[in-house]
Amino acid sequence: MKKRSIKPNTFLVPAPVALVTCQDRGGRPNIITIAWAGVICSDPPMVSISIRPSRYSYSIIKDTGEFVVNIPPVEIVKKVDLCGIVSGKSRDKFFEAGLTPVQAEVVSPPLVDECTVSMECRVAEIVPLGVHDMFLGEVVATHVAEDAFDEEGNIRFEILNPLAYSPPDRTYRALGDALGSYGYSRKKQG
Ligand SMILES: Cc1cc2nc3c(=O)[nH]c(=O)nc-3n(C[C@H](O)[C@H](O)[C@H](O)COP(=O)(O)O)c2cc1C
Repeated sequence: MKKRSIKPNTFLVPAPVALVTCQDRGGRPNIITIAWAGVICSDPPMVSISIRPSRYSYSIIKDTGEFVVNIPPVEIVKKVDLCGIVSGKSRDKFFEAGLTPVQAEVVSPPLVDECTVSMECRVAEIVPLGVHDMFLGEVVATHVAEDAFDEEGNIRFEILNPLAYSPPDRTYRALGDALGSYGYSRKKQG
């Protein structure tokens, strides 16, 4: 495949999209849309989110050491975009986006009811990197939409229906059909 060299870039395409919630010490919640996020350890379960210090949410999460990573389904893409272009410094994004806060089990920031998955996290470490600081979060509780479970207790991806984000062209995307499952290339046919 013929390639064109461009300046060094972070082309991990697609990126996940999360609605990360936080709450200040006065009990005021906020939501920030985050694409620079990833799984960093399975056991203990840990995820990372990278946030610019200029974001209103940054100092709240640094101060309280808690956040919730909520996975939005494609249906609420417009709300996701809104939470990523408006600052919660002087605006209530739950109200403006029409999202519903729900009491978390372990941490103070609320879950987002309209999201199909919510992971409650405690900050384990903050790593300054450059324009972003990376927050390493240990997942202390996980919630998955009841509807997503089939009769055997397996989680159906179609119900999670997560969004993806394409950084090169700054578009939100839906994911396509399943192409195979883990290890299927070695499984015997029929
Ligand atoms: C799709 C998308 C992804 C984003 N990803 C990040 C991110 O990973 N890190 C970050 O610091 N800001 C990111 N932003 C920008 C923040 O969401 C945005 O500046 C937001 O208004 C900050 O809210 P706050 O000031 O209430 O914290 C993203 C925005 C969008 C639309």
